[in-house]
Amino acid sequence: MLTESDARNPGLALLLGRRSCHALRAPAPSEAALELILKAALRVPDFQRLRPFRFLVAVGDGLDRLGAMMHRAAQAAGKPEEVVKRAPRMPHRAPMVIVVAATPRPSDVVPVFDQQLAAGCTVMAMQLAAQALGFGGIWRSGWLMYDRTLHAELGLGEADQIVGFLYLGTPDRVPAPPPEDRTDQFLRWL
Ligand SMILES: Cc1cc2nc3c(=O)[nH]c(=O)nc-3n(C[C@H](O)[C@H](O)[C@H](O)COP(=O)(O)O)c2cc1C
Repeated sequence: MLTESDARNPGLALLLGRRSCHALRAPAPSEAALELILKAALRVPDFQRLRPFRFLVAVGDGLDRLGAMMHRAAQAAGKPEEVVKRAPRMPHRAPMVIVVAATPRPSDVVPVFDQQLAAGCTVMAMQLAAQALGFGGIWRSGWLMYDRTLHAELGLGEADQIVGFLYLGTPDRVPAPPPEDRTDQFLRWL
C-alpha cells in the first residue's frame, strides 16, 4: 500500500522531476561535484562489470579544443558552410560538456548493444546527479554523435560509439515542471 510519504520520497521526486535545461551558464559543476556525478555514472547496471564507458570532460580551454575537433569533423564531412562555421562554438552552449562513449569489451556473454545501453544509462545517471546537486543539463546527440572523424579526434577506437554529449551547468532559469503523461498510453499488460 502506497502512502503519502512514498509520493514525497526524495529519490522518486528526483526521477519524477527530472528536467533538461537548454540554457546553461557558469558555474559548471566543481571538481568535487563532478566526482559525485561520475560516481553516479559508475553505478549504472553493468552486465559482468565490463565498464564499457568512457567520459571525456571539457571545461574552459577544453571546450575550445572540443569545438576545434567538431570544426575539423564538419569540414571533413563536407557539411554546409553554416554548419562548419557554427561547429567551433557548439560546446560553448554550456560551461561543461561530457562526451560519453560506449567502449565495448570483447565478450561471448554480453552483446555490444547491452554494453551500449549501459553507457547510455550513465548519461541519465549523470544528468540526475547533476540536478540533485542543483545543476542543470541536457543530453544532446546530432550528426556529430555518429561522425567517425570526431571519434578519431577524441582518441576513440573503431568499436567505440559516442552515446551522448551531456551539457552541464547552472540553469539560466528555473525549468518548467515536466509535463504529466498518462502511463496507460505506454502500457500493455501481458
Ligand atoms: C539519445 C538522445 C539524444 C538527444 N539529442 C538531443 C539533441 O541533440 N538536441 C535536443 O535539443 N534534445 C536532444 N535530446 C532530448 C533532450 O535531452 C531532452 O530530453 C528534451 O529536450 C526534453 O526535455 P526533458 O528531458 O526535460 O523532458 C536527446 C535525448 C536523447 C535520449
